[in-house]
Amino acid sequence: MEVVIVEDRAAAGILVADIVGQHVRAGAVLGLATGSSPLPAYQELIRRHREESLSLSGCRAFLLDEYVGLPRAHHESYDSVIRRELTDHVDLDRVDGPDGEATNIPEMAARYEAAIAESGGVDVQLLGIGTDGHLGFNEPGSSLASRTRVKTLTRQTREDNARFFDSVDDVPHHVVTQGLGTILEAGHLVLIATGETKARAVAAAAEGPVSAFCPASVLQMHPRATVVVDEAAATMLQLSDYYRETWSSKPEWQQF
Ligand code: F6R
Repeated sequence: MEVVIVEDRAAAGILVADIVGQHVRAGAVLGLATGSSPLPAYQELIRRHREESLSLSGCRAFLLDEYVGLPRAHHESYDSVIRRELTDHVDLDRVDGPDGEATNIPEMAARYEAAIAESGGVDVQLLGIGTDGHLGFNEPGSSLASRTRVKTLTRQTREDNARFFDSVDDVPHHVVTQGLGTILEAGHLVLIATGETKARAVAAAAEGPVSAFCPASVLQMHPRATVVVDEAAATMLQLSDYYRETWSSKPEWQQF
């Protein structure tokens, strides 16, 4: 796992856009997260598309998760969010997400897994982290081998996400999310965490034991995982001096 500490959200966005850019080629498969953590990276990708002729043509994308029961056209469905925040503004070939309105969710989830596999698998998966350590919407207690399925959000996650809705009562209780086993099959995992509210979860994920108690700790089992954090989210990392030294002496030839 490579932990990179950058100054702030904007710097995290630029670095993550650089990493995504390394993966972009015809046929590349991008794994997209929603929520606020990846937004600076999406803004930077849009800017590069407009101003520096970055093209995502020939690439497709899969979303990590979706609320169950929220109409696709709802402002806060992850299908709406990703279109508004990224895919309407770039030239990606297509974007698919789990269908939170499906009447038979297990069948839809199996089809979603099959579609990811048939695409050749996700090349680079962007991830945020919940304040309770969730990855995708795999809440604490999720099997480290889990596949796409329904999960129940914790009260803490619903309170954290209430900022996107009129009130916490409007945040759905259920979601459909790629499992931790699904996420681990992507070629490169890139976790973005910014702000002091993420500091505890980041330390548990990067330096704590691998445990279903902190689902994001499963990143430690992936051979190619990059964790991009800002100063505020890095405050509880015990090895922060080492991460800084590694970054400042990173050879030019060494990719992420
Ligand atoms: C969203 C997702 C979630 C978020 C996490 C952090 O697709 O999978 O795991 O990444 O809840 O959300 P933000 O970035 O809003 O703090």
